[in-house]
Amino acid sequence: MVSKIISALLLIACLFFISSTNAINLPGNYTLPKDSSDNLCFIARFDLVLNVEYVKSDGKKNISIIPLNNETFQFYDGTYALTKTHTLTITMLDNLTTITLEFFLNEKNQTSLTRVYGSVTVDNNTKYFPNSSIHARGPRPFVANESLFNADRAHSYRCNTRTKIDNFKTDGNGNVTIKSIDIENLRIQPFVDNMSTFHDYGVEEVCTMDRFTSSNLIPIIVGVCLAVLVIVVLVAYLIGRRRNRNGYQSV
Ligand SMILES: *[C@@H]1O[C@H](CO)[C@@H](O)[C@H](O)[C@H]1NC(C)=O
Ligand SMILES: *[C@@H]1O[C@H](CO)[C@@H](O)[C@H](O)[C@H]1NC(C)=O
Ligand SMILES: *[C@@H]1O[C@H](CO)[C@@H](O)[C@H](O)[C@H]1NC(C)=O
Ligand SMILES: *[C@@H]1O[C@H](CO)[C@@H](O)[C@H](O)[C@H]1NC(C)=O
Ligand SMILES: *[C@@H]1O[C@H](CO)[C@@H](O)[C@H](O)[C@H]1NC(C)=O
Ligand SMILES: *[C@@H]1O[C@H](CO)[C@@H](O)[C@H](O)[C@H]1NC(C)=O
Ligand SMILES: *[C@@H]1O[C@H](CO)[C@@H](O)[C@H](O)[C@H]1NC(C)=O
Ligand SMILES: *[C@@H]1O[C@H](CO)[C@@H](O)[C@H](O)[C@H]1NC(C)=O
Ligand SMILES: *[C@@H]1O[C@H](CO)[C@@H](O)[C@H](O)[C@H]1NC(C)=O
Ligand SMILES: *[C@@H]1O[C@H](CO)[C@@H](O)[C@H](O)[C@H]1NC(C)=O
Repeated sequence: MVSKIISALLLIACLFFISSTNAINLPGNYTLPKDSSDNLCFIARFDLVLNVEYVKSDGKKNISIIPLNNETFQFYDGTYALTKTHTLTITMLDNLTTITLEFFLNEKNQTSLTRVYGSVTVDNNTKYFPNSSIHARGPRPFVANESLFNADRAHSYRCNTRTKIDNFKTDGNGNVTIKSIDIENLRIQPFVDNMSTFHDYGVEEVCTMDRFTSSNLIPIIVGVCLAVLVIVVLVAYLIGRRRNRNGYQSV
């Protein structure tokens, strides 16, 4: 009897807990159109962190580090009807913050991320904007021009290394600044050919930093440095010996 009551209470507590969190699971891939899995126009996956500096009520500044995760993510959408411009818009933090990534297809069939824009709303959210000043609150649009993630249209672009986008212009009175948007573990193909059935990302083009870290380049560089060092020491020693011998001879 007692255990039944306890289970019932536990169940109620669990239900309450579940309904009180509005967590929405991140999609594995951001695909456009959203409801299609065959004739895709766009596919991407990545981790993202938004770094926002805001003024607190005591006048000091704080940098809020806001990851895109199950807790902050709300939904995503995008545009793909135009042939040269595709966008992906991610909405987070109770639908108050949006980030749009705009991709461009040039006349050489090269794709790239050309613009990042959106709006961040500083509010009284005590987790992400504790003690925010009343002057900081409200929607703050931001924008940055870029030329990133360049790849051939038929290929995909991969970069596991963090890319820091930090040249944002933030609208407003200086009480809020977008310090950066950091993107990592990226795989993207922003202009998939939707005439054929999608199977997988195209052949990947890998960013320089990934190639550097994943290759044997570092051990090779260390090895070469050591070899050069040994040679320098050896030569110095030999020169020193000859000098010494010459010294003896001249005596
Ligand atoms: C993303 O899409 C690719 C290609 O369809 C698939 O192989 C991969 O499993 C997907 N990733 C996730 C996390 O769903
Ligand atoms: C700054 O904001 C973060 C939330 O991202 C918070 O955890 C931290 O306590 C804040 N720091 C100060 C000094 O308010
Ligand atoms: C989101 O939740 C799903 C399922 O609970 C989990 O597999 C995934 O790792 C979570 N993602 C993040 C970024 O926390
Ligand atoms: C491919 O996308 C274009 C718009 O970009 C659309 O007009 C067309 O119907 C799509 N084709 C298929 C097969 O889905
Ligand atoms: C955010 O917007 C989406 C779509 O408009 C809606 O389904 C969802 O309930 C909204 N979430 C919140 C927390 O307002
Ligand atoms: C670009 O790609 C399209 C379709 O994939 C092709 O028809 C066109 O000829 C290509 N253009 C150039 C300049 O390579
Ligand atoms: C936070 O702001 C919302 C409206 O923006 C208001 O409804 C709510 O009461 C505020 N919460 C606190 C703790 O001030
Ligand atoms: C907000 O400020 C008050 C006093 O100004 C302080 O007691 C409190 O700890 C601060 N809260 C946070 C989350 O920083
Ligand atoms: C981005 O480029 C456009 C022109 O392509 C220009 O009008 C705008 O001022 C630039 N924005 C920033 C933030 O540099
Ligand atoms: C914040 O906004 C207030 C009111 O608009 C302004 O007086 C103040 O100079 C701003 N603070 C900063 C750091 O720009």
